[in-house]
Amino acid sequence: MQNAECRMKNLKLMKLGVLCSGRGTDLQSIIDSITDKKLDAEISIVLTDKPNVMALTRAEKVGIKNICVDRKSFDNQADFEKSLLNELKTAEVDLVILAGFMRILSPSFVHEYKDRIMNIHPSLLPSFPGAHAHRDVLNYGVKISGCTVHFVDEGTDSGPIIMQAAVEVKDDDTEETLAARVLEQEHIIYPKAIQLFVENRLKIVGRKVLIKFF
Ligand code: GAR
Repeated sequence: MQNAECRMKNLKLMKLGVLCSGRGTDLQSIIDSITDKKLDAEISIVLTDKPNVMALTRAEKVGIKNICVDRKSFDNQADFEKSLLNELKTAEVDLVILAGFMRILSPSFVHEYKDRIMNIHPSLLPSFPGAHAHRDVLNYGVKISGCTVHFVDEGTDSGPIIMQAAVEVKDDDTEETLAARVLEQEHIIYPKAIQLFVENRLKIVGRKVLIKFF
């Protein structure tokens, strides 16, 4: 059901809370998909862990509530996460979207939104988890890389996989050229994976995510 139809029928749109750390191109792909009516959801808040990042500007530009919860202003991770959770709850977020959010969330945060946190990672998991996927891919010498949308569990980049896309790794790739090729695919599959969640078509069975086809 498209946004306008939901509004006419007075149905509530699913509320997304998007967490970012920087540039926010994945966020932008979600904003654009909503505008293009390919994603039937609304972003009720964008949160960042750093001030003055592009993700905040992108949200501001289209009138989405945006707040920096600056990790540096908290003494510990627990207080930082408490503040994040407070903002997400106030914004009545149904699904948390990690979009270039470069922090590991604690198990207690993950439990608060159990099976309702998604992440995108720039490699074909379970290969090359962590903060330097492209560098690790190039150092290892694999011929194929890509990106993975997955549910977040208590581990690092280890939750059940929803969707993946592959790209070729070229002999003369640098981290930048590979990242750009992967990012194109990220911008396609992340909004699609979120739409599947919105349509209630994802079922987690152990490590697998089954996609319901009607
Ligand atoms: C994206 O490539 C995303 O996959 C990656 O950060 C980039 C954010 O780009 N995320 C991770 O590495 C998480 N471990 P963006 O700020 O332009 O959306």
